[in-house]
Amino acid sequence: MKFTFLHSAVLLASLGSAVAQAQDFPTKTITMVVPFAAGGPTDTVARLVAQSMGIKLKQTIIVENVGGAGGTIGAARVAKAAPDGYTLLLHHIGQATAPALYRKLSYNANDSFEPIGLVTDVPMTLVARKDFPAKDFKELLAYVKANKSKVTYANAGLGSASHLCGMLFMTAIDTDLTTVPYKGTGPAMNDLLGGQVDFMCDQTTNTTSQIKSGKIKVYGVTTKARLASMPDVPTLNEAGLPGFEINVWHGVYAPRGTPKAIVDTLAGALQVALKDPMVKQRFADLGTEPVAESRARPEALRTYLKTEIERWAPIISKAGVYAE
Ligand code: MLT
Repeated sequence: MKFTFLHSAVLLASLGSAVAQAQDFPTKTITMVVPFAAGGPTDTVARLVAQSMGIKLKQTIIVENVGGAGGTIGAARVAKAAPDGYTLLLHHIGQATAPALYRKLSYNANDSFEPIGLVTDVPMTLVARKDFPAKDFKELLAYVKANKSKVTYANAGLGSASHLCGMLFMTAIDTDLTTVPYKGTGPAMNDLLGGQVDFMCDQTTNTTSQIKSGKIKVYGVTTKARLASMPDVPTLNEAGLPGFEINVWHGVYAPRGTPKAIVDTLAGALQVALKDPMVKQRFADLGTEPVAESRARPEALRTYLKTEIERWAPIISKAGVYAE
């Protein structure tokens, strides 16, 4: 094909508009997809971050809940979205476990996204309905082992953090329970509060206020050390599950191909949001804190996601859990 003056003029014009688009970004509302139902821990983190990022970007960031299939439906939505910076994903450790759990994912967790940055590491708590017949972890273990599948365990679907914790718990105690899947642990919490389901493992961002108000029982946390927000709650490690630690890390992603200038603008707004006193206080109230600025960067998330995918694959394979 003869490269004419017209071709070069069109190419320059298109390059020029791409640069202008990146320089002016954002010029309209941004959508942040949360791959779980409203009212859950992922939704809570996203709404705080979206509100603060929007102030920095001088644009509204709306949160859209796209639940189902342990977060993979929402992630797929963003993987296929236009790479223009106006559709983002806020997801957690499920982004790293889905490749081992789903044999037919419609996207590649590493290659279908442009990482923006890590957001926060959230601990998990083992919680039960308030009249569950166990006063501590030892009694819970005895009850669960005695009643097995009569005991119901709520999660947010294969690939959710609540599923991952439940899978590791059942493997650790070598006992299968009846799992009840929801589109998020927001709806699951409603059933736990109502006594329709016996217990679940969920993030402090969803359980702290219910625990402190006595509406649910807590038996342990999945951190190495006890939480400052709940110093009387033992770690599961000390309560009877040695080495049982899960950190539900969260990251923000854009579709693959989003221009670097736009990725950098979004990453800059995320870093500002994570220093926002409102975000820091609300995270602290919910038993967590923003990651250090060095981790709220694209390359930090890219590296961490890759190592987490590699870390969880053999663990999940050993548990023998996957979806066709
Ligand atoms: C999970 O269980 O993985 C999610 O945190 C559920 C949710 O955010 O609703």
